[in-house]
Amino acid sequence: LPVKRYSRRYDRNRSRRYVQALVDVTVFPHDFAWGAATAAYQIEGGWNMDGRGPSVWDTFCHAKGGVFEDHTGDVACNSYQLWEEDLKCIQQLGLTHYRLSISWSRLLPDGTTNHVNPKGVAYYNKVIDDLIACGVTPMITLYHMDLPQALQDLGGWSSTEIADIFESYARFCFKTFGDRVKLWITLNEPYVCAKLGHEDGTFAPGIKDPGISVYLAGHNMLRAHAKAWHTYNTHFRPLQAGQVSLALNSDWAEPLHPGCPKDAAATERYKDFSLGWFACPVFCTGDYPESMRARIQSRSLDLGCKQGSRLPRFSKDEPSPLGTADFFALNYYTSRKVKDLNDGSKKSELSFVGDQGAEGVVDPSWPICGVHWLAVVPDGLRKLLKYIKETYTSLPIYITENGFSQMGPVQIEDADRCQFYQDTLQEVGKAISQDRVNVKGYFAWSLLDNFEWNHGYSVRFGLFHVDFSTPELKRIIYRSGREYAAVIRKQRSQT
Ligand code: NOJ
Repeated sequence: LPVKRYSRRYDRNRSRRYVQALVDVTVFPHDFAWGAATAAYQIEGGWNMDGRGPSVWDTFCHAKGGVFEDHTGDVACNSYQLWEEDLKCIQQLGLTHYRLSISWSRLLPDGTTNHVNPKGVAYYNKVIDDLIACGVTPMITLYHMDLPQALQDLGGWSSTEIADIFESYARFCFKTFGDRVKLWITLNEPYVCAKLGHEDGTFAPGIKDPGISVYLAGHNMLRAHAKAWHTYNTHFRPLQAGQVSLALNSDWAEPLHPGCPKDAAATERYKDFSLGWFACPVFCTGDYPESMRARIQSRSLDLGCKQGSRLPRFSKDEPSPLGTADFFALNYYTSRKVKDLNDGSKKSELSFVGDQGAEGVVDPSWPICGVHWLAVVPDGLRKLLKYIKETYTSLPIYITENGFSQMGPVQIEDADRCQFYQDTLQEVGKAISQDRVNVKGYFAWSLLDNFEWNHGYSVRFGLFHVDFSTPELKRIIYRSGREYAAVIRKQRSQT
């Protein structure tokens, strides 16, 4: 796809106008968290070093055919060996917070606490200690797409047992690192992991199944999250006083044809089947949205599914997912216009899109930046923040991911991305000052260019470019990194 320019506004005034000068930083609270985020498989490399066990992404990449030009995360940014270089980047940006994930199979090579890898423990201890010594608060994600392969071999997210195994892993992390780590994310984007990994098959573990897998995986993720949260709440919170949540991705969605009742209803379903799927059980009712229950049940029956409904039920004998979040963690990237699909072609197929009977499309006026799915719509973030406050919770919200990708030739002078951060931070500011949304922090995705899953290294989201052609994997700050740093400096100097 040709890359449309995001805006020319910025370029024309290149030498004089800077993001930090244009973002109104006075509206951000004095203790606002300014962060960047990464994930273990996307940056660490060292895939078989020092006792790390394989994860589903190692298997998926090594099998070939699933990732752009068969790229792998075997080396990635080599953050396993170059952590100190990453720390310099974090310091150069002046971040107050850094969000990273733990590689489950680096810590527990077979996924269980029966075998602990001391070198894995030492690595994360060093990262955490170094961050704290530099005045940077760590936010740790326990699971960012990289299930230990040994657990996949036992059925992965489709198996009932996975929830207890995850709980043991989480307990181990709380016990080992929780004296210093106070912000935890159990799961990153369960929607993406369930849908792309267990229905579309484009993400590891590569399961293509239009039937039950997607809902079963999502269900077991929610059970796993709930168990981990309850463990923290009962056994660790009294001493450690931290906070635990799960990071949910969501588009902002609006009807394709304003005023069309079918599109309006489809938009509600689209939201229920994405954000609501995980947010409703945790923040509203302890169960899936009613529209999911009703539609999946009736379609499953119509299409002759033996189970009656493909959407599982939460058992009364287990801890409820309701109330299992101490803050809302949002990953926002893009928006969609939604059209009704009820009478459309997907009706007869068993599939997620068929179940929701709605399709999200890109408005032709929105620029696509880099990767094909990323229509850049900064004001969608403001609308979504308000919607979350009104629909789900008044708890504080951390924007745990948001970013802008680049493809093709590397542009260190990334004026488009600067424009994007400027517009986005303005919208976050408006959400805080005008809509009174309690936004506690913003984490740019990503600190570094890295392994962008099935796109490999062809898509770059970093505030630092990583020169993958040099053996030392040199980190080079983009202009957007310099300008993000300037915003942070400016906001912090006024408080
Ligand atoms: C969200 C995911 O959490 C992250 O791993 C990914 O790289 C970004 N989206 C960009 O696609």
